Amino acid sequence: MNELGQYYTESSFSDLLISFISNNNPKKVLELGVGKGSLLKAALQRWNNIDFIGADVDDDNISMLSNEFPNINFYLLNGLSSKLDSKLNLEINSIDVAICNPPYLYIDKNKEVNSIVYNAGLGKSTNYKRLTSDIVFMAQNLILLKSGGELGIILPDGLITSHEFEFFRKQILNNHLLLGIIELPDRIFKKTEAKTFILLIKKGNISKKSYRVPLIKADKDGLILDKIFITSDNLIRRMDYTYHKWQKSTPSLSGKSLGELNVKIQRGKYTKKELTMMNVDFIHTSDLYSNTSSELIFRKNKYENGVIAQKGDIVLSRVGKRCIGTFSIIKKGNVLISDCIYRIQTTEVIRKKIIDALNSDYGKKWMKAHSHGVCAKVISKTDLLNFRV
Ligand SMILES: C[S@@+](CC[C@H](N)C(=O)[O-])C[C@H]1O[C@@H](n2cnc3c(N)ncnc32)[C@H](O)[C@@H]1O
Repeated sequence: MNELGQYYTESSFSDLLISFISNNNPKKVLELGVGKGSLLKAALQRWNNIDFIGADVDDDNISMLSNEFPNINFYLLNGLSSKLDSKLNLEINSIDVAICNPPYLYIDKNKEVNSIVYNAGLGKSTNYKRLTSDIVFMAQNLILLKSGGELGIILPDGLITSHEFEFFRKQILNNHLLLGIIELPDRIFKKTEAKTFILLIKKGNISKKSYRVPLIKADKDGLILDKIFITSDNLIRRMDYTYHKWQKSTPSLSGKSLGELNVKIQRGKYTKKELTMMNVDFIHTSDLYSNTSSELIFRKNKYENGVIAQKGDIVLSRVGKRCIGTFSIIKKGNVLISDCIYRIQTTEVIRKKIIDALNSDYGKKWMKAHSHGVCAKVISKTDLLNFRV
């Protein structure tokens, strides 16, 4: 990962983001992490006579843009500073529109960033297992926006889809008005596979009732492929088009979930590299080729207190791109599994139901809809326990 998170937006996606801002005549427009000016250029194409304020921590970006746009105020500064308003010569609550594609970097929690996140209505930092620069950039934008001001921001997959960030999604829905989410295709940034979304939000316009939010899917040219409406209450669990489209179009199997059936699911303990160094037999995702129940036989049982699959267990790929959801059944022997694999243990009757469900069209689509992740895709254990058979 580039240490300043410098992945620049293609003009088609900048145009898309700007086209979704409803304000036709903003006066003050802010961009934190302005980079090489992709969003700025799209904004200048749409709006005449705006007072544009751009900032970045990279000297080269600021010099380049200052030469190209001599009439615009650019600031060389750290966007994570709690004194951003005075550094930008701005009042808080003063910006009409903020646009942003922030860096996606882990940052340490400290008093400064804790207060930024809290003041923006995104809750306490202690509620976040990990804090990332994208959350703090989003918070800075919200603080500087006026009430009713709009933010269009490109965010990583985790904030939109993972269980870890349900708290974040709840804060948005409780304290602001969510105008829409646009799911962007994979691999739109050079040198990263990050999956991203455009989040459109109005500061502070809290709706007491639940409301309908458009979830939109865009193609690789930044054109809209489809749009569905989901009520805000249903967006805490996940906010992505793919998941909700699947939920709407696929009736769930009527059976019980793996959790209700007390199925035991455990993830392997060691990485592929560690297991290779231990010189033991193990199963990794590359041993599970397709969604068919090929039966694996293992005889060696030399192991080092890792997670061991044995006769009758289902072993399922939990991480990967193409292999996610592929599985097999252990026919004989004991074998260690890598940390990219789940071991599923249950009775013979339930095992047969699980295998049928995993092999069904429903099962394959379920895996696709429930896998998420910024780079490699992952199926979480919580989701898998909700799989119905
Ligand atoms: C993902 S790039 C996006 C750039 C541009 N907005 C775009 O859409 O192409 C993030 C930008 O944030 C800048 N950046 C990273 N850390 C920063 C910080 N702490 N304060 C201000 N800018 C920062 C990087 O230099 C980079 O230009």
